[in-house]
Amino acid sequence: MIHVQNLEKNYTIGTKSYNVLKGVDFKAEEGEFIAVMGPSGSGKSTLLNLLGGLDQPDNGSITINEESIHTMSEKQRTLFRREQIGFIFQNYQLLPNLTVEENVGFPMHAASKKRTDIHQTVSNLLNAVSLTGKEKNYPSQLSGGQQQRVGIARALSMDPPLILADEPTGNLDRKSGTEVLRLLTTLHQEKKLTIIMVTHDVYAASYADRIILIKDGLIESDIRQGEGANTDVMANILAKLNS
Ligand SMILES: Nc1ncnc2c1ncn2[C@@H]1O[C@H](COP(=O)(O)OP(=O)(O)OP(=O)(O)O)[C@@H](O)[C@H]1O
Ligand SMILES: [Mg+2]
Repeated sequence: MIHVQNLEKNYTIGTKSYNVLKGVDFKAEEGEFIAVMGPSGSGKSTLLNLLGGLDQPDNGSITINEESIHTMSEKQRTLFRREQIGFIFQNYQLLPNLTVEENVGFPMHAASKKRTDIHQTVSNLLNAVSLTGKEKNYPSQLSGGQQQRVGIARALSMDPPLILADEPTGNLDRKSGTEVLRLLTTLHQEKKLTIIMVTHDVYAASYADRIILIKDGLIESDIRQGEGANTDVMANILAKLNS
């Protein structure tokens, strides 16, 4: 489903150039749940933003569902993103002046879907994330965990095959984080969604089937759970990466 080849990204600040991604290669099959881990500043969010077409690589290629997103025009990329990718962010990124139901339905409104379809989908999604009854609340009237569940419902509203999540549990306590991780696991198992989740947290990563570790802009290791990637092993690797 995803094929990333020799992906490079550089940032220039003043006269200095930083090679943030130095040639990242990986493939992901449809329906995989992958955690991307690595030290702060290693390029995890950069990689996710490139995969989602939010940023452009300096070199290399990204193919998602047979489509090359790095060669699309801005307009094509926006349409592709809308149909194919659901984003979940650490800080939820809900629109503060819209209610829960308006936030969840926002991508469908933007895609000019029918009102009745939007209403039905939003209702089903709020039920799926256990937020029925909160339709008229504003984001500020919800807990962090509830806001993230709204974020997940919104990510699902266009029924995309791919979910990209950047530290989705980063602002949550263990209980709310676990609810979010269980929800992602259910989506992955029942809807066969492909999920790529950036996380610092070994506990969160333990929910994934496969863990890709990034260090200094390169993939340091790529392990499937059950091939030795239990959380203790991962904790050790992470400790080494951070030392
Ligand atoms: N827009 C930008 N302009 C310049 N440098 C950037 C930009 N975005 C990221 N960087 C740099 O690229 C590097 C990687 O950043 P990135 O956000 O991908 O790291 P990360 O692995 O997600 O870190 P964290 O775990 O702290 O979120 C950092 O050194 C950062 O300063
Ligand atoms: Mg980041």
